[in-house]
Amino acid sequence: MGRLEHACLSFRSWLAVTAAAFLLGVRPSACSDLTGSRPNILLLMADDLGIADIGCYGNATIRTPNIDRLAARGIRLTQHIAAASVCTPSRAAFLTGRYPIRSGMVSSNGYRVLQWTAASGGFPTNETTFAKILQDKGYATGLIGKWHLGLNCESSDDHCHHPLHHGFDHFYGMPFSLMGDCAQWDMSEKRAGLERKLNLCFHIVAFAALTLTAGKLTRLLSISWTPVIGSTMVAILLLTTSYFVSPLIVHADCFLMRNHSITEQPMHFQRTTSRFLKEVSSFVRRNKQRPFLLFVSFLHVHTPLVTTEKFLGASLHGLYGDNVEEMDWMVGRVLDSLDTEGLTNRTLVYFTSDHGGSLESQLGNKQYGGWNGIYRGGKGMGGWEGGIRVPGIVCWPGVLPAGRVIQEPTSLMDVFPTVVQLAGGQVPQDRVIDGRDLLPLLLGKAQHSDHEFLLHYCENLLHAVRWHQRDRGAVWKVHYVTPRFHPDGAGACYGKMVCPCSGDKVIHHEPPLLFDLSRDPSEAHALTPATEPLFYEVMERVAQAVKEHRRTLSLVPLQLDGSDNSWKPWLQPCCGPFPLCWCDQESDSQ
Ligand SMILES: *[C@@H]1O[C@H](CO)[C@@H](O)[C@H](O)[C@H]1NC(C)=O
Ligand SMILES: *[C@@H]1O[C@H](CO)[C@@H](O)[C@H](O)[C@H]1NC(C)=O
Ligand SMILES: *[C@@H]1O[C@H](CO)[C@@H](O)[C@H](O)[C@H]1NC(C)=O
Ligand SMILES: *[C@@H]1O[C@H](CO)[C@@H](O)[C@H](O)[C@H]1NC(C)=O
Repeated sequence: MGRLEHACLSFRSWLAVTAAAFLLGVRPSACSDLTGSRPNILLLMADDLGIADIGCYGNATIRTPNIDRLAARGIRLTQHIAAASVCTPSRAAFLTGRYPIRSGMVSSNGYRVLQWTAASGGFPTNETTFAKILQDKGYATGLIGKWHLGLNCESSDDHCHHPLHHGFDHFYGMPFSLMGDCAQWDMSEKRAGLERKLNLCFHIVAFAALTLTAGKLTRLLSISWTPVIGSTMVAILLLTTSYFVSPLIVHADCFLMRNHSITEQPMHFQRTTSRFLKEVSSFVRRNKQRPFLLFVSFLHVHTPLVTTEKFLGASLHGLYGDNVEEMDWMVGRVLDSLDTEGLTNRTLVYFTSDHGGSLESQLGNKQYGGWNGIYRGGKGMGGWEGGIRVPGIVCWPGVLPAGRVIQEPTSLMDVFPTVVQLAGGQVPQDRVIDGRDLLPLLLGKAQHSDHEFLLHYCENLLHAVRWHQRDRGAVWKVHYVTPRFHPDGAGACYGKMVCPCSGDKVIHHEPPLLFDLSRDPSEAHALTPATEPLFYEVMERVAQAVKEHRRTLSLVPLQLDGSDNSWKPWLQPCCGPFPLCWCDQESDSQ
């Protein structure tokens, strides 16, 4: 069945390709080559990369020749926007083409992203990813790298949220995410907080145990030995656990899977990069005869910035820069795999980052986060441009023009309808899809992107809205809520890994802040009713759009809240004997 479907391209994508060929003046022979097969889709996503960390986006001192070459041969989007400023919701939106609030892949209480592999929250099974649609259309679909969209619902191996349940037929990577805790870094996402909590509990229980023991020995309390011994044991357990928190986290979250099996627990970072590359080239080789979708979801450039020796000390920007340069080298190797199989002209390649660089990734006065250039704010900040404006490069030699730059507002969610269209599929009709087909814009058939409004959420709260007022060429941005920056920090919230979205750490603006990004991309000069005659008109139009957007929302269970985002021992995947959770299935193969 799959093969037959390959052979007959749907009429719509045939039209798109023919139109593309026509517009670009591609000769009919080249055109008929294209109509014979739908393109392969290769999606590259960096983790936590800032837009100004790469050469073709203006960085003169970091070396990213491979990404730059991709941009030179393709199209560079300069206003490419993530649907959220942190991983889990942004990635959920990317895969579904929908604001994460629609799938419930957001929190309302400060968790922001999935906290544990053994949490029960995750990608709802009734969401449809583009991988699922392409799989149904006969594509070979693979995911190599980070997932971070959940794993289990009820048992440690039901894998209800696993990539293989969401349209991928091949998975090799981390079901969770890399984090400082994986390498037992000082910069810790979870350890420090857990240790604090465990220590507090220990002190309370130890105090109770001492009181009971003293009471019992002095006969002031007439109790049996049971509570005395019980509380002492709990105190000892708490103390031991707090002592072992660090290795426990490493085993609980930092492991690799191949399809449904755990292959390395904990993972051996130093060989992960070469493993991933090997996996990419063998996937490409295996599937060169059929159209494929390959999503390479890098662990770079998230902390702890695992970098192989060859790149250590190679850049001008410390460990972070080394890690970026290594990621760029990986991009080059991935593109080489296409070249080797002669697939470059039959493959649409896309490069992006899940959100902006993190300003809070600091230890002492060393910066371990990305650089967002002229854009204000960074990772974790709902509305500020630095957290959501990311690189966006699309390359398809012979079909898309080379070296073009598009400044229109586009979204990571646009990848969904675009690749579905290219594969000859249909976007689901039973739900709202927020992404828009990029092809008309990329092919130069349309002058403007289809996005008039883009909404910038922080958790489940709307922080800001962008309005592209096409007839005036303005891009208005209205901020209702912004994070409170630390007074000494250049736009960062100190003392926290990410800025909160609500509470006393945010400012509610009344009237809202207004910027015109087309004149002030750095969001440096807020417009007021006195300086901007259109102030109230813009506010009103945007408020209207928000109202219309809200009418399309329905109440869904939030996947990142409460117990859904807590560690549940019975969901903990573990290879080897519990509680050791240790194995290394691939040690012999390298
Ligand atoms: C280039 O990237 C590095 C690493 O993030 C950063 O420190 C530097 O400021 C960037 N330079 C420019 C000109 O953007
Ligand atoms: C996952 O399973 C599929 C189908 O059984 C297989 O083709 C693929 O090679 C497997 N992937 C890995 C990483 O082993
Ligand atoms: C790929 O496309 C480019 C640009 O159209 C062209 O110059 C090149 O010859 C093509 N390569 C192959 C192998 O067809
Ligand atoms: C998925 O299921 C939830 C209930 O668990 C429901 O609220 C939601 O609307 C469903 N989503 C879709 C796209 O059908």
